[in-house]
Amino acid sequence: MHKVVILDHPLIQHKMAKIRDKNTGTKDFRESVSEISGLITYEITRDLETVPKEIETPITPMIANVLKRQVVIVPILRAGLGMVEGIQTIIPTAKIGHIGLYRDEETLEPKVYYAKFPEGVENSVVILVDPMLATAGSASKAIDILKESKVKDIRYVGLVGCPEGVARLKKDHPDVPIYLAALDSHLNEQGYIVPGLGDCGDRLFGTK
Ligand code: PRP
Ligand code: URA
Repeated sequence: MHKVVILDHPLIQHKMAKIRDKNTGTKDFRESVSEISGLITYEITRDLETVPKEIETPITPMIANVLKRQVVIVPILRAGLGMVEGIQTIIPTAKIGHIGLYRDEETLEPKVYYAKFPEGVENSVVILVDPMLATAGSASKAIDILKESKVKDIRYVGLVGCPEGVARLKKDHPDVPIYLAALDSHLNEQGYIVPGLGDCGDRLFGTK
C-alpha cells in the first residue's frame, strides 16, 4: 500500500499560511520554510530503526537506543536547499547530497545538471527534499538518480503537492513514501500549483 502522509499539524498550517501569502518577503519566507521543515522532521523519521548501545549515566550503566543508519538529506536544487537547515537542526549528524535539476519552462521536463552524494549513500536513509510537487517530473527523475546509485530507503518530502503530482509519483515509484505539508487543488496550465505559493525558488532566493 503506497504511503502518502499530509502533515497538517496546526503549527505547520499556521506557518504554511505565511509562506503562501504573496506579501511575505524573502527573509520571512526563508525562515518559515526552514521552521516547517524542522517541524515535519519528527513525522518523516518516526519509523527509523534504532539499535541498543551500552552507555553509562552518572548513576548506572544502561542500554540506550541510537539510530541504526546514517541519514542523508538530498535537496533538489535550488528550492530544496531551503529545507535542509531546518531538518539538519533536528538531525545534526545527517550528511548532505545534492541533485541539480530544473524544469524546462516550455516542456516542463526536468533537466539534470548536477548530482553528488556522500560515500555510503546506498546504505543510508535518504530524505529527498523539494518544496513543490507539481507534475512530479523533478521528484521522479531525482528518485531515478538515487536508485541508479543503489539507494534503497528513499522518502520524498515536500511542502505543497497536488493530485496530479502525487498520482505520477505513486505510479513511477510506488515504493517511495510521500510526505507533504499540504495537498492543494490542481495544476494550472503553466504547471503551477493552485492555490500553491508561486515560484518557490524565486521566493526563497529573491530572484524575481
Ligand atoms: C521547481 C520546484 C521543483 C519543481 C517542481 O523548481 O522547486 O523542483 O519546480 O515541479 P515539477 O514537479 O513539475 O517537476 P524549478 O524547476 O523552478 O527550479 P528551481 O528550484 O531552480 O527554481
Ligand atoms: N514549482 C514552483 O516553484 N511552484 C509551483 O507551483 C510549481 C512548480
